[in-house]
Amino acid sequence: MIKQPKQSDEKQIILSRSSNSNFSIKKQAQTPNIDLNQQVQNAYKMIEQGMKYYQNQQYSMAKVVLVNSSQILLPVIKQKKQNQEEHATEHQELIKAINTAEICTQKVDQLFQNIASQDPYSKQIIETAMNRKFEVSFDEIIGLESIKKQLDEVLILPNLRPDIFTGIRAPPKGILFYGPPGNGKTLLAKAVANQIKCCFFNVSASTLVQKHLGEGEKLMKTLFKIAFQFQPSVIFIDEIDSILSSRSSEEHEASRRLKTEFLVSFDGMQTSDQDRIFLIGATNRPQDIDGAVLRRFTVKILIDQPDQKARLALVKSLMSNVNHSILGPAFDKICEKLAGYSASDIKAVVKEACMQPLRQDKIAIVTISAQNIRPVRKEDFEFAINKVKPSLTEKQYQEYISFNKSGS
Ligand SMILES: Nc1ncnc2c1ncn2[C@@H]1O[C@H](COP(=O)(O)OP(=O)(O)OP(=O)(O)O)[C@@H](O)[C@H]1O
Ligand SMILES: [Mg+2]
Repeated sequence: MIKQPKQSDEKQIILSRSSNSNFSIKKQAQTPNIDLNQQVQNAYKMIEQGMKYYQNQQYSMAKVVLVNSSQILLPVIKQKKQNQEEHATEHQELIKAINTAEICTQKVDQLFQNIASQDPYSKQIIETAMNRKFEVSFDEIIGLESIKKQLDEVLILPNLRPDIFTGIRAPPKGILFYGPPGNGKTLLAKAVANQIKCCFFNVSASTLVQKHLGEGEKLMKTLFKIAFQFQPSVIFIDEIDSILSSRSSEEHEASRRLKTEFLVSFDGMQTSDQDRIFLIGATNRPQDIDGAVLRRFTVKILIDQPDQKARLALVKSLMSNVNHSILGPAFDKICEKLAGYSASDIKAVVKEACMQPLRQDKIAIVTISAQNIRPVRKEDFEFAINKVKPSLTEKQYQEYISFNKSGS
């Protein structure tokens, strides 16, 4: 039996949900010519599916589907309200979805607490690797448009409609983001977690590499076990090369055992094609990863350095709140000079350029009023580009390109 909220509660829930919902709501609200009725029907199907998961006590799955269905319904209701159309049923369904999702969240949290109290490894995984709140949205990631689309298809949609992405349409188990440092691999993984609102396990070498022999592999095993229990879930292993590097004769026993446990857990992590547990690995040294580990990532995506269009978008977005006197064509020229810079190098250049107007006499800067700070000029960028060099040489960059071409 689902609790019916009072009218004032309803508003509050809807408001708090809407402030939390980023990409999908914005996207749908801005899309012209949407068939509202079709959207409503899709949302109803999702709610029906979510309620089935709820009744089967698959709370984690139910929560994801219901939260996402409410994100489809909410803008539709808002739009219908503007058109003064009848929307009582949609409203009821929305409240049902939100309330049930709320109950599921509580159940999931309770289960986490129970599991954490069972053994020290589970406690460690839940405390250190579980991350359920990310503020990164796809919109904040500049460029990489085709990759975002690909991720939508292989990760996001299958989580929303697990019933139809089965058999030959089942999503891949593992995705590897590789490429030069500072271009958004970690950022993308966090945006994916935010987008699908699933359980997200963020793991790095510091979580899994332990002092005592045997502990790392037990943590690895526990990680996969908990992720399986709380589907849909994503395990994100950042800097995966540092944990699962190529085997060598001088390798430490603990590291060999960790790798073996990874391979065994990975192979056993999906018992049916309806299971929704994904692995995302990220590395800037793909050539160092163990061959058997690499093979398990059936989808490998190169997160490349930004091209001219992305560089322009990035610089303009970073400068959006800064007073400057740079005209359009000058921006083009600046960005041409930034070829070979990574996104984070570009951020460093923009920061350096924006600091230039503040580099004056100390007394002057303490007393100046904010509106009297001079605008950032083209010359500030020239200075910054001379000072901040790209973090990668052309030769190092070519290694990624040849890894990409070899398709390994
Ligand atoms: N595509 C992008 N759009 C906007 N900002 C970006 C983008 N890529 C990188 N950045 C900026 O650079 C920082 C570093 O990005 P991120 O940590 O995702 O890089 P990475 O590819 O994981 O690097 P590494 O290989 O060193 O781990 C981000 O916090 C962000 O400020
Ligand atoms: Mg990273």
